[in-house]
Amino acid sequence: MKPVGPIPPFFADQQGELAIGGIPVGELAEKAGRTPFYAYDLGIASAQVEAFRAAMPKAIELHYAVKANPHPAVIKHFVGLTDGLDLASGGELEKVVAAGAECAEVSFAGPGKREPEIEAAIAHGVTLNLESETEAQRALAIAERLGKSPRLAVRVNPDFELKGSGMRMGGGAKPFGVDQARVPALVRSLLDAGADWRGFHIYSGSQSLDPQAIAESQAASIALAAQLAKEIGRPPETVNLGGGFGIPYTAADSRLDIAPIGEALDAALAARDDVLTSTRFMLELGRWLIGEAGVYVARILDRKESQGELFLIADGGMHHHLAASGNFGMVMKRNYPVAIASRMGAEATETATIAGPLCTPLDRLADNIAVPKAGIGDLVAVFASGAYGLTASPVNFLGHPGAAEIVVNDGKVTI
Ligand SMILES: Cc1ncc(COP(=O)(O)O)c(C=O)c1O
Repeated sequence: MKPVGPIPPFFADQQGELAIGGIPVGELAEKAGRTPFYAYDLGIASAQVEAFRAAMPKAIELHYAVKANPHPAVIKHFVGLTDGLDLASGGELEKVVAAGAECAEVSFAGPGKREPEIEAAIAHGVTLNLESETEAQRALAIAERLGKSPRLAVRVNPDFELKGSGMRMGGGAKPFGVDQARVPALVRSLLDAGADWRGFHIYSGSQSLDPQAIAESQAASIALAAQLAKEIGRPPETVNLGGGFGIPYTAADSRLDIAPIGEALDAALAARDDVLTSTRFMLELGRWLIGEAGVYVARILDRKESQGELFLIADGGMHHHLAASGNFGMVMKRNYPVAIASRMGAEATETATIAGPLCTPLDRLADNIAVPKAGIGDLVAVFASGAYGLTASPVNFLGHPGAAEIVVNDGKVTI
């Protein structure tokens, strides 16, 4: 038997049929008219924003990283709650414009931006976080053609990394950002060209559960921003300190305590160099804001045994939820928080592998876990599924039906 990850506290104490945003999963399945589905409880997203505001210094602005979950209702919710948004593509730009975001508070990072994407971003007044000198040239040429002064920031590839992060995006050779030593020359060239230079974007990693490592990387980012500003001879208007706040997915993970991060950030801001006195600072978070708000729900289609082992075959799997199957950045598959949704809190009486319908051994939602007896028709819930779920999955693989997405907010269900 293998352990499952910790069920998020918003759901952990439930007994009997799982409810999401106060609505029983069976009712959500009926409303959707099908399984599998993702359900996002926006009340949890709001609670996360409140927890962030309570723990972080007042001056720290909060941006939502749309890539974590680009569902239109989720974006719209965060437009109303956060101070800005961060994009990774022109497709996400279209969605945030449709959600009514204030584009002056939207930034766009990502290597290999295509010309139409750069053009759309400049036309909307979105800040481009430049990833290279050649991208800067392209942006300047497009802006000139449009007759616009582009809002440009430079994404810095810092010499340091976010220690212990699931994904390292700084320190060493990287496709992301401009190596820190080359940043002053690039910023001077932007200023010479008459661009509206906004500042720095320093993103050193994501999915860290170590408050000290996050605090260290934030302090190092503030020091680096000051050093670069002095070399450039101009203070940045904004410094995006990245994010990296992780959530627990597996039994090996524990919850991130953000209180010490807030305290350390307060101290680092208080001690910052004078060159940054009037600079605005922000953090951009995705999964920490929405990850625990989402649950993936699938129905058991079959119950079978093979060589003494029990398999529950569900109608959902890796084609909707690549991450839970262990094939999205995990070296070894470890179980996500998974439960039989109709029997929350019930005693486990058997050991089962929950497999999906795809013809590949990779398609497992849970491997050898302890479950209460479950059979055909029962629902399975995979928690911590609100970020990098459906959009990070190979939905066309093998041509199975897609998953519905349900948004629950204040007792209202939208499909
Ligand atoms: C530039 C950038 N911003 C934000 C994020 C969001 O990260 P997370 O969802 O882990 O907060 C990522 C993730 O890779 C990123 O690369």
